[in-house]
Amino acid sequence: MSILDIKKYPDGVLRKKAQPVKDVTDAERAIIRDMFDTMYFTKGVGLAAPQVGISKRIIVCNPTGEKKDELAIINPKITYRKGRRVKDCEGCLSIPGITGEVTRFSLVGVTGKDQNGRDILIEAGDLLARIVDHETDHLDGVLFIDRVGFLKKKIIMRSYKKKTGLFCTGKKY
Ligand code: CO
Repeated sequence: MSILDIKKYPDGVLRKKAQPVKDVTDAERAIIRDMFDTMYFTKGVGLAAPQVGISKRIIVCNPTGEKKDELAIINPKITYRKGRRVKDCEGCLSIPGITGEVTRFSLVGVTGKDQNGRDILIEAGDLLARIVDHETDHLDGVLFIDRVGFLKKKIIMRSYKKKTGLFCTGKKY
């Protein structure tokens, strides 16, 4: 079991487009195990590989924290978003202490591979839909603060700077 170091905003790895995984090997399975361990340790419900400094298209999710609900997706691709538009409070382990309301769809279709390299196709609903959408965003360098609206983003980034001393240098992403 390894608890990995979580990269905090504005670390550059969080803004990079992550690379697709070509073959699912023991190396990817080890990363996934460490990502789950790190996510549970930090009491998160989802984690994307760039958040632990690994720029690969891998996400892990668990909306309940129960072993049976673990979901790891390699090369996740959102194929559709539908259902209701739901506004809910979100946070991110890479932007500690900050939350914001983000509107996302209640149903998300996602394809990819599981940790054995098998193709998967999932329709995620409600909280899992939100997690999958949030984590897949990370693989394209998109953070939830990009989805709260311009003014709200300014306000919450000011509060983040106050709380952590970390701030964005004004660079536009
Ligand atoms: Co996040």
